[in-house]
Amino acid sequence: MKLDRFLAKQSSMGRTAAHRLIAARRVRVDGHPCTDNQQEVGRFTRIELDETLLQEAERALYILLYKPVGILSATTDPQHPTVIDLISDPDKHSLHLAGRLDRNTSGLVLLTNDGRWSKRVTEPLEHVAKVYLVETAEVIVPEAVAAFAAGFYFHTEDLMTLPAQLEILAPRQARLTLYEGRYHQVKRMFHRVGNRVTALHRESIGALHLPPDFTPGQWRPLTPNEIALF
Ligand code: URA
Repeated sequence: MKLDRFLAKQSSMGRTAAHRLIAARRVRVDGHPCTDNQQEVGRFTRIELDETLLQEAERALYILLYKPVGILSATTDPQHPTVIDLISDPDKHSLHLAGRLDRNTSGLVLLTNDGRWSKRVTEPLEHVAKVYLVETAEVIVPEAVAAFAAGFYFHTEDLMTLPAQLEILAPRQARLTLYEGRYHQVKRMFHRVGNRVTALHRESIGALHLPPDFTPGQWRPLTPNEIALF
């Protein structure tokens, strides 16, 4: 919502009255006087009018986690431990996942309570690269590279997968870059070339890599520069 609309709604005044207060520098956004009527106001914005607090900013959380194999990418589950159980933060129950991993997949997972931010991470139109290290049961045939680049038709979703880059590292090991995250996508793609994934690990999401010194289960908040990557 824009600042002038927020003020008009919050303080039951007309839009013109709101403009006057804003022009008089009586409205502070995150502690600073704001003269832009069109300033965006969200859940994480603090708004004051003179000495009156109109809205306290909610605490925005952005977390990077090394998901171990065996932990669910969910916020609650009656049976299995979830990624939330690994995090110690008083506001952890406000978190959601910016892209899930299967229970038997390890690697980089991002969690946040900022829905706009997570959308930018996961929305296929944003073309954020997700890089996976894959181990397979059978030898990876060289034709798989062109097949992954051409894309596969996924019947359930009625879509073609976006061009993906497959780099064969060893007879049964590859690095795969996807720009979307469909259900069981890596496993389904390997299945299409007559193979089976035996181990899967996510190394990076966009420019964000799993820190090399991290061990499974470890997590930390993202830095402001890391948050700004998306
Ligand atoms: N693709 C899969 O099949 N599983 C994952 O966990 C992630 C991508």
